[in-house]
Amino acid sequence: MSENVLFNQGQAISSKYDFSKTYLSAELFKKKNGSGPEPSANQPELITLSDGNEIPLIGFGTYTLTGGSGVNTMMQALSTGYRALDSAVNYENEGAVGEVIRRSSLKREDLFITSKLPGRHQKFDEAITTIQESLFRMHLDYFDLYLIHWPNPLENHYVEAWQALIEAQKMGLIRSIGVSNFLPEHLERLEKETGVLPVVNQIELHPYWSQPEQRKFDKEHGIFTQAWSPLGRANAVLHDEIIKKIAETHHKSIAQVILRWELQLGVGVIPKSSSTKRQFENLDLFNFELSDEEISSISALDKPDGRTNNQNPAVYQEF
Ligand SMILES: NC(=O)c1ccc[n+]([C@@H]2O[C@H](COP(=O)([O-])OP(=O)(O)OC[C@H]3O[C@@H](n4cnc5c(N)ncnc54)[C@H](OP(=O)(O)O)[C@@H]3O)[C@@H](O)[C@H]2O)c1
Repeated sequence: MSENVLFNQGQAISSKYDFSKTYLSAELFKKKNGSGPEPSANQPELITLSDGNEIPLIGFGTYTLTGGSGVNTMMQALSTGYRALDSAVNYENEGAVGEVIRRSSLKREDLFITSKLPGRHQKFDEAITTIQESLFRMHLDYFDLYLIHWPNPLENHYVEAWQALIEAQKMGLIRSIGVSNFLPEHLERLEKETGVLPVVNQIELHPYWSQPEQRKFDKEHGIFTQAWSPLGRANAVLHDEIIKKIAETHHKSIAQVILRWELQLGVGVIPKSSSTKRQFENLDLFNFELSDEEISSISALDKPDGRTNNQNPAVYQEF
């Protein structure tokens, strides 16, 4: 059997980039490295959103993955076992994600593709066109999930943008509609003015910024919280002494303990990794469990200034 069973090399658009790389499955990874995750560990669990659609609990972050090398990294991620790819217009990689989807022989319905509306196109008509352009770039008929990337409250267009997502869902362009970086005040306004709440809120979340109030609000409103930068974008949290001790107890890495803590908080995660080894590591989270005490001691690491990049959605704007 070919090592590259998941991919149809011939299907994709012609390209001068070298796509002859072998993408490792869990079995091949183990064979090559002597150890590795059990194949059964590499099946991201699905959970049901409040609109009835399912979403993988673990997805793959794609920020910075662009061009040919981005395609190779994401193709490896599918081979590793990820099924959800988190993209955005502003990542400038919707073309690369589309190329990965075309190269993969996985069925469209087995993939979960997310993209995000940028701040500069929040006006209703522009938002609809932008969603269509995202689909055209990816060569897709529909998104599994489309999010408003940031509320940009000073511009005051996020309710219009939300109405556009509602309309795009009716048009069949999007299965589930959600938001990113929305605070309770923004979500309350969406509900009051449109009667429709998002099913997902993707927010910055890691041990130094764990967002207990936002998580509580989301949960009470049937909104699934998904953590962006779940590993704090590899900042000091990956060297935290308290997490390190917990990791040693479980014979796991610090990154695995952080991701497991997030899952046990009831939050979805979308770690990004360009390394095949770390891609496997970040999926291998279902053969250990943190105690309530361990969960509490990681949650206690929350800091008032713990954001990675000081992006407070009440005032920060991104276009
Ligand atoms: N909605 C939003 O506003 C928003 C904002 C930011 C991000 N996001 C999304 O969230 C995704 C994830 O966030 P992120 O990319 O900012 O950061 P992240 O996933 O928290 O961290 C990525 C960094 O951690 C390293 N890493 C990954 N796994 C590791 C492991 N097991 N051990 C040690 N280091 C590890 C990676 O390096 P290597 O690549 O070398 O492994 C990379 O430097 C993004 O890619 C994007 O899709 C959304």
